[in-house]
Amino acid sequence: MQINRMNQNELQDEHISLLLLADPSEKLIREYCQNGLIFSMYKDNELIGMMVLLPFSEEGIEIKNIAVDESYQGKGYGKQFLKHGIGFAKQNEYKRIRIGTGNSSLVQLGLYQKCGFRMVNIDKDFFTRNYEEAIVENGIQCRDMVILEMEF
Ligand code: COA
Repeated sequence: MQINRMNQNELQDEHISLLLLADPSEKLIREYCQNGLIFSMYKDNELIGMMVLLPFSEEGIEIKNIAVDESYQGKGYGKQFLKHGIGFAKQNEYKRIRIGTGNSSLVQLGLYQKCGFRMVNIDKDFFTRNYEEAIVENGIQCRDMVILEMEF
């Protein structure tokens, strides 16, 4: 497994397809990729994951997107990728890292807490405000953004 940094002008369809697994809005993806730090994950030279980090202050950085190819999910790659993002934030002397996820994203809520994130806020109706189509996961409508943070 190898993780590389890449530039926005290197983004191809294969990268966008992966980012769309975590965020259905290509418009928003392209917006945060403009100033974001973009990481790609490879296994045996095959692209299997993408992650975008975006500073939100001098002290804080947010994981705006993290995605692992569906055929590689559930095998530990997402956790390793997340830990890489946390390590990057620490090395670059950020004091906190943030991630937001939907109220219906049960695996993600579990994964982030297993990695040390704590719930700090809820942006009520974030998804109903920002996405035209209803999102349903695990039989639950995704309406609210749960914001989790880890302080170093
Ligand atoms: N059901 C229950 N638990 C699951 C699961 C599932 N379907 N898939 C993974 N998990 C658990 C694992 O048990 C693991 O915990 P453990 O280490 O204690 O065993 C933990 O979640 C991490 O699993 P991992 O295999 O590292 O996750 P992953 O490689 O599937 O990556 C995501 C996690 C979220 C990045 C990946 O599933 C994904 O790309 N999903 C679609 C995009 C997305 O939702 N991104 C996040 C937006 S906020």
